[in-house]
Amino acid sequence: MDICFLYGTETGSSEMLCEDIEAEIGAGITSQIQSLADVTPDDLNSETFYFFVTSTYGSGDLPVTAQPFAEALEQKKPDLSHVQFAIFGLGDMVFEDTFAHGSMLLMDKLLACGARMVGERGIHDASGHDMPEDLAVPWAHEVLSKLNAAAAA
Ligand SMILES: Cc1cc2nc3c(=O)[nH]c(=O)nc-3n(C[C@H](O)[C@H](O)[C@H](O)COP(=O)(O)O)c2cc1C
Repeated sequence: MDICFLYGTETGSSEMLCEDIEAEIGAGITSQIQSLADVTPDDLNSETFYFFVTSTYGSGDLPVTAQPFAEALEQKKPDLSHVQFAIFGLGDMVFEDTFAHGSMLLMDKLLACGARMVGERGIHDASGHDMPEDLAVPWAHEVLSKLNAAAAA
């Protein structure tokens, strides 16, 4: 199965994190990285596994570049029952009330359209001690193990 990383970012951290994850899981896997600004829900297909990586801005919103994708999910309610995904959120506990809400919003909209989520939502806190990749790389390995186990069952 091919892998596609779809990021929502304001200052580039989510895109860099996709590159870090891709570098660690890349061997033998065909992957690509795209901004959520450049895809629509209709582009998602059943032959690809999607890693969504997005930060949170404003009052718990998605980054501006990711908002058209989320609005399309909300307004068109496409049937995404053929789509498998995992999602990782970047946030900052300084914004306690809206911590990592962008990834939660996107996750809820994907699930509401019938997409199948593999693993738990990963989260990074910019105020914490960990680097994003130190959490996201093991998280991605676990997601892929679950995906492979489900495919083998
Ligand atoms: C103006 C501004 C607003 C933010 N609002 C939130 C927020 O509501 N909740 C949250 O968890 N993080 C918030 N953040 C933190 C970012 O999501 C976090 O720094 C993230 O790592 C940025 O990733 P990016 O470079 O991919 O956009 C905010 C950051 C800025 C600069």
